[in-house]
Amino acid sequence: MTMGAPCIFGKTAYENLSIKPLPGRLNIVCSRSYKIEKNGDVLHAPSLEEGIKQCGNVDRVFVCGGAVLYNYSLEKDLIDVMYVTQIYLFDETLKKQIASNKKTNTYFPYNFDNLKWTKYAVPFDENLLPKENPNVKAFFYKYVRQR
Ligand SMILES: NC(=O)c1ccc[n+]([C@@H]2O[C@H](COP(=O)([O-])OP(=O)(O)OC[C@H]3O[C@@H](n4cnc5c(N)ncnc54)[C@H](OP(=O)(O)O)[C@@H]3O)[C@@H](O)[C@H]2O)c1
Repeated sequence: MTMGAPCIFGKTAYENLSIKPLPGRLNIVCSRSYKIEKNGDVLHAPSLEEGIKQCGNVDRVFVCGGAVLYNYSLEKDLIDVMYVTQIYLFDETLKKQIASNKKTNTYFPYNFDNLKWTKYAVPFDENLLPKENPNVKAFFYKYVRQR
């Protein structure tokens, strides 16, 4: 979905990418405190607004998280469309394991104002889901900001 479009990350999200920079996309890393080494496909921005400017004249820019950057972009009303994967666990043991995992400490700002957004269900290929646990279901939604 993001292929070819500029992708803006918070510093922590970028550092946690298993492949970085994401190929085929201009990667922009937001940080007020450090400058990442500049190379052709990675730029540093001291703010999200500055990062958006660095994208130049493009149709769309993806804000790719993490939570700090998602929260900021929603608070500043900079987002027109959100693509959200919701994963439902119908397995109580798995739910408890995840709840007790101390590494689970970052959350999408699910308390955004629903009334400002129109939600659409987007069909997707169920074969992409892991087969080993049929009690894990995922749904993919597109939210469009009402202006
Ligand atoms: N499931 C998903 O879709 C998804 C997507 C992305 C990330 N993640 C996960 O989320 C976690 C990271 O999220 P996080 O909330 O901890 O951190 P984050 O938002 O990725 O990064 C936070 C850091 O980015 C910089 N930053 C954020 N907003 C900024 C702004 N408006 N202007 C300038 N700099 C800004 C700051 O760096 P400085 O302190 O250097 O100024 C801040 O400390 C990781 O575990 C990652 O794997 C999940």
